[in-house]
Amino acid sequence: MIEQLIADRAGAIDASGIRRIFNLASTLKDPINLSIGQPDFPVPEPIRSAAIDAVANHQNGYTLTQGDPKLLARVIEWLKLDLGWDCAVTGQGAAGQPTAFVTSGTSGALTLAFMALLNPGDECIIPDPYFVCYPHLATLCGAKAVPCDTYPDFRLTAERVEPLMNERTKFVLLNTPSNPSGVVISKEEGAKLRALCKSKGVLLISDEIYDEFVFSESLGDVAKGDASMKRCPSPAREDGAHEDTLLIRGFGKTYGCTGWRLGYVAGPSAIVDQMSKLQQYTYVCAPAPLQAGVVASFETDMSAHVAEYESRRDMVIERLSKHTKVAIPGGAFYAFIEVPESLGLSGTQFAEKCIERELLVIPGGAFSERDTHFRISFATARERLEKGLDILESLLSGN
Ligand SMILES: Cc1ncc(COP(=O)(O)O)c(C=O)c1O
Repeated sequence: MIEQLIADRAGAIDASGIRRIFNLASTLKDPINLSIGQPDFPVPEPIRSAAIDAVANHQNGYTLTQGDPKLLARVIEWLKLDLGWDCAVTGQGAAGQPTAFVTSGTSGALTLAFMALLNPGDECIIPDPYFVCYPHLATLCGAKAVPCDTYPDFRLTAERVEPLMNERTKFVLLNTPSNPSGVVISKEEGAKLRALCKSKGVLLISDEIYDEFVFSESLGDVAKGDASMKRCPSPAREDGAHEDTLLIRGFGKTYGCTGWRLGYVAGPSAIVDQMSKLQQYTYVCAPAPLQAGVVASFETDMSAHVAEYESRRDMVIERLSKHTKVAIPGGAFYAFIEVPESLGLSGTQFAEKCIERELLVIPGGAFSERDTHFRISFATARERLEKGLDILESLLSGN
């Protein structure tokens, strides 16, 4: 039988809860979709045009594995301004200098990091709730992702992480702002978590794919090179962090081009350079004309979109916190909402009830060891979001 050919690592991965709900929902004609994890605005025109021009001008071959030199130079410039890091191109760093390269999406960077760091039997610590890929990436390496329970406030603090560390722990994975909760950790929390990792000789990986989507009250730090630039707090901005922190960021969410598959990684050259070697023999390079497109992103102001998401966030909190507990999202475009105990429903059962009313949300069990919550995305047109909130208010109050 052909099934016998399948490797254990594939068999060990369960179909994602997200896909299960999508299958259930596929019978609906025009549901209100609050399950989507990508922005609802178009790619800004200068970025789109630059990509189209790159295709027309025959930039369609491979780039160097480390990325289009123009894009990588802009990334390195930005890391200096934002974090004060003096990065070199991967493979070209002087002793102690951090290095960087362009990856095939943030997922590409995460996959390479897990592959470069985890041996079978090793452990890493991830927040629970987590981005859906995290545990599976560890499984692919024959390793174990140890979930750190962050309920009910969804903050990955040093106090919560420390008891889970042991001699098998290779890294702690922080995601701020978080998917699925939108929670942003403070500068102090990030600094303490980094100090803990450093003291244990464990790497801190910071997945900051939503770093540009941060709302007013959570802009708790400033760029190293320009104090007028308010930024999402990051442990990577702490002095000396380039020696022990691996930073992963992306372009897809920020500029509405998730399908372009673009991200980058920066950090200690010993690790980043191993990752770029693995990229050479797997992804090869990120898509060439699209890399040329996002060079223009460094001059593109997304603040109007962020302000719109903040206002939608306010609406979500105002309407739903009357009925249940919602940890206030400081960024991204998600809220992770508790199903009131009085309803006696799991997150999955609640999501199924939503489907009966033509509303799509994602059950918390897709992101967690628990199935007590559900995730909504407010990257959805305002009037659709309002209709979705009408249905949620009704269901949450038991109707
Ligand atoms: C926290 C987090 N990390 C990584 C990713 C993957 O992003 P990309 O599309 O850049 O691979 C996502 C996508 O939803 C995410 O939410």
